[in-house]
Amino acid sequence: MLKIQNLSKSFHNSYVGENILFSDLSLNIKKGDFITIIGSNGTGKSTLLNVLSGLVNETSGSILLKGMDLSKVPEHKRTKIISRVFQNPSLGTCPSMTVRENLSLALNKGKLINLKYCLRHKTEDLEALLKDISLDLKRLLDVQVKYLSGGQRQALCLIMASVSNPKLLLLDEHTAALDPKTSKEIMELTRRLVEEKNITTLMVTHNLKDAIEYGNRLIMLHKGDIILDLEGEQKKRLTIENILEKFEYAV
Ligand SMILES: Nc1ncnc2c1ncn2[C@@H]1O[C@H](COP(=O)(O)OP(=O)(O)O)[C@@H](O)[C@H]1O
Ligand SMILES: [Mg+2]
Repeated sequence: MLKIQNLSKSFHNSYVGENILFSDLSLNIKKGDFITIIGSNGTGKSTLLNVLSGLVNETSGSILLKGMDLSKVPEHKRTKIISRVFQNPSLGTCPSMTVRENLSLALNKGKLINLKYCLRHKTEDLEALLKDISLDLKRLLDVQVKYLSGGQRQALCLIMASVSNPKLLLLDEHTAALDPKTSKEIMELTRRLVEEKNITTLMVTHNLKDAIEYGNRLIMLHKGDIILDLEGEQKKRLTIENILEKFEYAV
């Protein structure tokens, strides 16, 4: 489904010189995989997601998504098939537009239509998208997104990111700015949407408990390499202590 082959990425900076993040990274991801990605700060987790979404170019290597060579697909076209949720909820929504308008835009992602046509969705259809969301979003359809709480915005970002049934969903520490209760609610919503729609998902997190509890595969990145890659039962048996040891002894 997603094949990353011999990926290398480095940044050049006149002060620090060459910063090689990956020199030969390969990874095969199956359809419907929900992969949690952990690793120290600065390891290149966000850069990996940036390369996949087309925000930055790989230095060399190839990325095939369902056999399609992504290097030939510019970033604005990738947004039709790859959705992303960031730590900062403002990055996934238009804050000065209402929840209704944001949802309508997400429902029409990638289509060339005017705004009036875009906003034709019936209230009950939009409310249906927000059903079972404990953060009370249904009541806020006509409220500008900038007035929503962080949790409500992340819930909206997730719904917007998944409503177009993307081939790939990239989550970059999307609960890191939330309190523990809201973070749990957002993680449960993440699990529900990913499972309902069977979306292939990569989730970067520093929350080791979440990294173990959610998803079917866990990957730890360190200095450009995958130093831990566990699936299924092996992943379920992992403990936070096991992972902390890996962090401790990673060189
Ligand atoms: N656009 C960029 N230009 C130059 N250096 C960058 C850029 N993006 C990231 N880096 C550098 O690459 C390294 C990895 O960053 P990042 O992928 O954000 O790490 P992580 O998400 O694992 O914390 C850092 O040293 C960062 O400063
Ligand atoms: Mg990051």
